[in-house]
Amino acid sequence: MKKDIFILGIETSCDDTSISIVKNGTEILSNVVWNQNKTHEKFGGIVPELGARKHLQVINFVLEEAVRDAEISLQEISAIAVNNQKGLIRSLVVGVSAAKALSMSLNIPLISVHHIEGHIYSNILSHPEIKFPHLCLTVSGGHNLLVLINNHFNYEIIGNTLDDAAGEAFDKVARYLDLGFPGGPVIDKISKAGNSKQINFPRPMLDQDNFDFSFSGLKTEATRIYSKLKDSPEFKVEDFSASFQQAVVDTLIGKSVKALKKYNLNTISVVGGVSANSKLRDEFERYSKQYNFKVYFPDIKLTTDNAAMIASVGYFKFLNQDFSDLNLEVFTNNPL
Ligand code: KG4
Ligand code: ZN
Repeated sequence: MKKDIFILGIETSCDDTSISIVKNGTEILSNVVWNQNKTHEKFGGIVPELGARKHLQVINFVLEEAVRDAEISLQEISAIAVNNQKGLIRSLVVGVSAAKALSMSLNIPLISVHHIEGHIYSNILSHPEIKFPHLCLTVSGGHNLLVLINNHFNYEIIGNTLDDAAGEAFDKVARYLDLGFPGGPVIDKISKAGNSKQINFPRPMLDQDNFDFSFSGLKTEATRIYSKLKDSPEFKVEDFSASFQQAVVDTLIGKSVKALKKYNLNTISVVGGVSANSKLRDEFERYSKQYNFKVYFPDIKLTTDNAAMIASVGYFKFLNQDFSDLNLEVFTNNPL
């Protein structure tokens, strides 16, 4: 009988300290996420120094809980997978140091994972039946890509963000409207009571013949329109949010559908924090029926940063014996 592979994943790129144990690449035994929203919300965004200190404070407790939840012992772990390739440097250092300590003390391999690769695999984890090749839209606070996934670890980036990612635009507009942090989930919630046709926001770069994104102009336009309208008696924040959200969703879907057509693909995987957005999910489902393609979203818990997605990548790298040594470094933004 084949021996089970247990990968312990570590993710500390930004404001979530997460450790997870995944069996054979797709069975999540534990996935503990310690979120720092409370630490950062009063500043309206992430404060890197505070984030790194928080990771350091909680990482051992997160580890203990992840091992306890998984109901296995550390001695049974096959390898340690860690995101060392995208994020805030001081935050990554905490996760990578923990990973090195575990790899050394347990005498098991260390595996390097790119954060965006983790998001891509969050859907392979949720839907192991996804076939290659497929298109992947990654849409988070820190990245917004269209990637052809030809096979395991065979990626071709066909579109990138020229400035702000969609999640960043959600966060910045929400901060301008004083709606709290992170902004995406709040805008998603209040938009349900709004009219998305009330304000006609631009759909940036949708008419251009490329697959790049640019949400900075839309964000600036949103803040300009808000300043102009906010004191009017007819102004409703629900309508404003719903209209802004619709512009983001139309742009993401418009570009994706064009890319599916151009590359003759019939499957798209949508991942990252913004893939939790209810309007994006509903509209993608609607378009998938109209244009006859399959769309996959990760389980909601796997849309935002988590270590299960890192452990899942770790499993497939383990099968390839793709290991790192203790010289492993950290990078703010390594190319995928
Ligand atoms: O993937 P993630 O946790 O971190 C990065 O890799 O950046 O994504 C966080 C982003 C934030 O910008 C947050 O506002 C956004 O995902 N987000 C959402 C929703 N939930 C999280 N945006 C729109 N609608 C949501 N429901
Ligand atoms: Zn992320």
